[in-house]
Amino acid sequence: MRKRLVVLTGAGISAESGLRTFRGNDGMWEHENIEDVCTPDALRRDPKRVKDFYNFLRKGLPEHQPNAAHIALAKLEERLGDKFLLITQNVDDLHERGGSKNVLHMHGDLMKLRCTHAGHEFEFRGEETMDTRCPICGSPVRPDIVFFGEVPLYMEEIQDALRNCDEFAYIGTSSVVYPAAGFKSFAKSCGAKVTCLNLEVPENDPYTDVVIEGKATEVVPKWAEAFE
Ligand code: APR
Repeated sequence: MRKRLVVLTGAGISAESGLRTFRGNDGMWEHENIEDVCTPDALRRDPKRVKDFYNFLRKGLPEHQPNAAHIALAKLEERLGDKFLLITQNVDDLHERGGSKNVLHMHGDLMKLRCTHAGHEFEFRGEETMDTRCPICGSPVRPDIVFFGEVPLYMEEIQDALRNCDEFAYIGTSSVVYPAAGFKSFAKSCGAKVTCLNLEVPENDPYTDVVIEGKATEVVPKWAEAFE
């Protein structure tokens, strides 16, 4: 019987597409303060600053193309069907543009806005201003981004998938931001094999069974093709 696989990706999978990671050299959080652009308090204090930051990121996205690692995961989804679940911490759309159909953006989605009244989400490609309103109910909106201090999305679905998978792989993430950083220990405690694919691999991590060191574009396609 085919194994159930859950994959978690982080900023490292998009690095070779030219997108900054968060904590690497020249990472995003070297250039911006989290407290200025990525907390509920920042949004209350200076909403324009927060919206402009995500407008800037959204505007730049079309210049970046999905790479071989994104495409390999899309092919894996095609091959494994409902035995495969892709979770990403990334807010970019490179998995979708690489061909993935079902992606759980647990930290939100740069290509969507959300209304602050009823939580309606809608696709958005342009520049959000203070006057942008929800097309469904007319309420004020915000970027559909999970800020520090907010609860990530799809947690129940993710927990169920981790509980029932045979293998959990995490790719291109520093594994420091919870709850995503805890997925490997949870999956392991539920009986899954845990694989890490990253540029820098953890040393003596008690929850990781297999480590595959290298650039995502080099290691992910090989690993994905060999997965049975
Ligand atoms: N191939 C594989 N891995 C890479 C590559 C590459 N080409 N380049 C960098 N990496 C690895 C780094 O070694 C690092 O472990 O990707 C990881 C990126 O880590 P972070 O910058 O911390 O990104 P991430 O883990 O996705 O951050 C988690 O933090 O600020 C928040 O909400 C934001 O979703 C983000 C969360």
